[in-house]
This record gives sequence, structure tokens and C-alpha cells, in this order.
Amino acid sequence: MCGIVGYIGRKEAHPILLDGLKRLEYRGYDSAGLAISDGKKISVFKSAGKIIELEKKIGKKPISGSAGIAHTRWATHGKPSTKNSHPHCDCNKNIFLVHNGIIENYQELKENLSRKGHKFRSGTDSEVIAHMIEEFGKKYDFREAVMETLKILKGTYGLAIMSKDFPDEIIIARSGSPLILGVGKGEFIIASDASAIIRHTNKVVYLEDGELAVVGKDGYEITNVRNHSIKKKISEVDWSFDKAQKQGFEHFMLKEIFDQPGAVRDAIRGRLVAEEGVARLGGLRNVEEELKKIDKIIIVSCGTSYYAGLVGEYMLEEYAGVPVEVEYASEFRYRKPILNKRTAVLAISQSGETADTLAAIREAKNKGALVLGIVNVVGSTIARETDSGIYNHAGPEIGVASTKAFTSQLSILSMLALKLGRQREMSLVMGKRIAGDLEKIPKLIEKVLKESKAIKKIAKKYSKYGNFLYLGRKYNCPIAYEGALKIKEISYVHAEGYPSGEMKHGPIALIDKDFPSIFVVPKDSVYEKNISGMEEIKARGGKIIAVATQGDKEIKKVADDVIYIPKTLEILTPLLSVVPLQLLAYYVGVSKGYDVDKPRNLAKSVTVE
Ligand code: F6R
Repeated sequence: MCGIVGYIGRKEAHPILLDGLKRLEYRGYDSAGLAISDGKKISVFKSAGKIIELEKKIGKKPISGSAGIAHTRWATHGKPSTKNSHPHCDCNKNIFLVHNGIIENYQELKENLSRKGHKFRSGTDSEVIAHMIEEFGKKYDFREAVMETLKILKGTYGLAIMSKDFPDEIIIARSGSPLILGVGKGEFIIASDASAIIRHTNKVVYLEDGELAVVGKDGYEITNVRNHSIKKKISEVDWSFDKAQKQGFEHFMLKEIFDQPGAVRDAIRGRLVAEEGVARLGGLRNVEEELKKIDKIIIVSCGTSYYAGLVGEYMLEEYAGVPVEVEYASEFRYRKPILNKRTAVLAISQSGETADTLAAIREAKNKGALVLGIVNVVGSTIARETDSGIYNHAGPEIGVASTKAFTSQLSILSMLALKLGRQREMSLVMGKRIAGDLEKIPKLIEKVLKESKAIKKIAKKYSKYGNFLYLGRKYNCPIAYEGALKIKEISYVHAEGYPSGEMKHGPIALIDKDFPSIFVVPKDSVYEKNISGMEEIKARGGKIIAVATQGDKEIKKVADDVIYIPKTLEILTPLLSVVPLQLLAYYVGVSKGYDVDKPRNLAKSVTVE
């Protein structure tokens, strides 16, 4: 949420900052701004709306200067407007800063500063930081004033700060909001995530909470707020700039839907040993013995990752025989979870930065549970704070609505079920069947993707409806939830996901000719039950789109439209059945003319609780 970019080096900062903002726009896109120093003065431009509005405001004239900070915002305090967009500054326009996070004690700080005569220009919590630095600056130098300020702030921040009096440095700091320092040759790029850095360098330093860095043209120094120096290793980002491009697709979302065969291949590569019916998950090596002893798993996650967790619950209980609970991460810490040393808490997160999920694992750690992660972004906070974990290797997911991360999470969860299952009761024969069929999934997803034209037609036919009911059972019940979430996010139509067996207990009251249902109904152990549900809807005049197994001719008697997926093992059907639902949401959104990569009010990576 909110994207920060900073540059200090020998090149003109202006184009680098704008390019970085565009790469980070998926983190927030209601307003944007930048500040650039030419050594003598700091030029500031801000605008409400997307980055393009900022570009228009700047116009063609280059802004000279080789140090600068920039920000793309997702509003928390203060509505999206030019006045509330970052950078914010102090009274004297000496200190400029961009901030990601929430300052919880800002009201109290603002009142104190106002009493001392400070005048505020925005309705944000962030501005208070600039005034505090100004206030401490009466006694301390720039660096010390920043440190004194950070000691008082409560809440979360990723910060990049410039001072007119110290034009050769940018101070960055982190607590709870991600911040990375890209280390180039004679230049440094600061960003909320690697997508704004990778074009310039793949060498990065991940800042930890409580750390700050003073970055100049020729080097940087990392300390804590007490000015104790910290040595940190330089890591390498393992994906290339190409992977963060649209590669000819109209939208990132569509590209990422089509990336899924590759994403699943990358998730299972080197891990799945089909001949032995096992999964070797190197990231869990250091907890191998603990895993044998666990007798409960609690999955914590949000949104789409939560639905992956629900599929994982079916997988792990059926094949590993381990009881599983799936919790919304945002609720977990407010309950009194019963945890002990034999409980594993598994966080699932694409970004690895979701504040609710992070808070949940911190709570689990406090209570002594083994904390594991399935995370896509390497080096992210959740990846670093879990005891052990499995990376997705799905590459960057830029579309705000999660797609390839989901199927990648499902493939990892099925490998986890295989691993834990084979440690327990699962036979070699069953292990080989699951592993063998999982290996075939990428090819089967390719087959589903070949149906995209037909799905586009169906999307067109149904795009006039304002309500949808998504229904599924057992493994495909969470897929119904995920299908409904996708169409809500991208097309702004009302959709509800329900277990199909639950439909007759209430939601059926909604059904009439204007309220279509989407049934996820592969040929599995609950097929007949699903058909009964479909008949009940048909009998009430409801239209039905079915996602069914190739060769199922009977389904056409009950459904108005059918999208076929290839046959696979029941446990793996979600990896196929979700794909048509992603495409359906995508095409409905596009047909309505919406920006599907940046749906209104949303942002990738929700770093506030
Ligand atoms: C939905 C979506 C969100 C995320 C959720 C969790 O399309 O993208 O619901 O799934 O915010 O994010 P991560 O997985 O990054 O923790």
C-alpha cells in the first residue's frame, strides 16, 4: 500500500522516479508526487489521480537534479487530493518526505506541534513527521533530528526524507512497512518493492524494522535509531525486469492468468519427485523433525490467499490426516487461539507484507507455535519472520487481483499435503498418483487457457447482470468464493460465493431470471449433490454457467452455458477450475471498460491493519 521510490546518484532523478512510480502504481493509485533536489533548491510536483496526472502536471520540461523522492498513494488519513499527496514538508519547506504506513499517535503529536506554532497544510498523518524533524532540527543535525523523531512515532512507516540543507543525502527508515535499498554503480535506488529497482540493479539490501540508512551518491550507512551501526548483507533479486512487463498482453492480469502453467511449473520444479511419490521442500528442511510431530495446523491469510488456505484445509486433512483450521489473519489475534508446540501456524501471502498476516504470525510466535510460510516475494517481511517456509517462485504479480499466486499457492499446498501425508499414513501408490497428476497440471491449465475465446463470449453474454451466485462443494467450495471475489474486484458487480449445499438454506431466495449462478461442478465425489443444487436453481428460472469436466454431456441438460476443464484427481481440480473464473471476471471487467489492473479503492500489498 503506497509506493515509495527514491534516487540518489549521478543521473537525472526525474525519469527514474517517474518510471519507478509507474512500476509501483499497483500499490496505490489515488494521488502521486515527487520532490527533486538540484543541490540548491527542491522542486515539488503533486497531483490527485494516477501517475499520468502527475506527468501531465510536470509537463515536458525536465526537472533538474540527481536526488529525489516520490510516492504513489493509497489514502488512509485524508481523502485523495493534491494537498494530501506526498511529499509532505515542514513549515519552512526544508524537510520533504514520503511515507508509507500509519502514524497512530499523529493527533497527539499534531496538537503538540500546533501549540508550538507549526502550521499544517494537509489532512494526513504523514505530515506530522516533517514538522517533528523540523522541531528537533532546532537542537540536532538532520540525521539526529530524524532519529529523535522516529523514537517517538507509534505505528508503521517506510520513509524517505530529504533536507534542503543536506542535499547530498536521503535518509530512509522502516518500521512495519517494506523498504528496499537497491545498490547500483555510483547510484542507489530506494523502493517499497523490487519492481522499481530491478531495471537498474538486482543487488538489494532489505531494511529491517527499526533500521534507518543515510544514503549518499557514493555509499550508505545503516544504523538503528540509537545510531549503532549495522552491517547488512547485499542480496540478489532472482527475477528479471522482463518478468515485470506485460509482454504483449493488454493487461497484467491477463498476462498473469496466462503465466499460470509456468507459475505451477516453477513451484513444483526440483521439489516434486513423481517416481517416489514425494515432495522435497528444501525450505522446510530445518524443521523436518518438528513437522513429523505436529498434530494441528492453523492457516492464517487474507483474501485470495485465505481461499487458497481453505483448499489447503481439504487437501491436508484428507491426505495428511492433520486437523487444519483456516483463520482470517485479521481475526486470528483477536481470538484466543489454542496453540502449543505441536501446532504449526502456516501463513500464506503473495506479497509477504500483508499487515494482518504479519500480526497473526507474530502472535503465533509469542505463543510458541512453529511458524511456517508460503510466500511469493523473496526477502519479504513474512518470509523473514517465519521459522521456515516455501517460496512460490511465481515471479512478480503486478495485477492487483491475485491470479497466478493463487494457483501457485495451491500447488505448494498439494505438495505439503503430499509431504506430510507420506510422513504419516499415505501409501506410495497414492503419493505417486498425486505427484504424477500434479506434474501434468501445467499442460492441463494450458488447455483451459485455450478456451479463453469461448469464455470471453460467455462473459459478454452475462456482463449485463448485476448479481451472481458462485457455488461449489468440497475442494471447489473455496473456488466459488474466489470466483466471486474476482468478479467483485474487477467488475464491481455484486457476487456471493457459497457452498452449494448451503444454497437451499437461504441464498436460493435471491434466484430469479436476472440472478445467474456459476456452478463449479467437476466430476468428483460430490458431483451428484451439485447436480441436485443446479436442478433446484433451474426450477426457479435461474440461469446457470457450469464449470464442468471434459466429456460431461449430461451437464448441458441443466446448465445454460458450460466451460469445460480437463479431468484430473479431485484434490487437484481447483488448480483448473479457478482459471475460467479468473477469465470470466477479467472479460466482464474489460467489457465494462474498467482498469482491471488497478481496480478502484484497492491496492496490492495491504500493509495497514
Ligand atoms: C484478491 C487479492 C487480495 C489478496 C490479499 C492478501 O485478488 O489480491 O485479496 O489476496 O490482500 O494478500 P497477500 O497474499 O499478499 O498476503
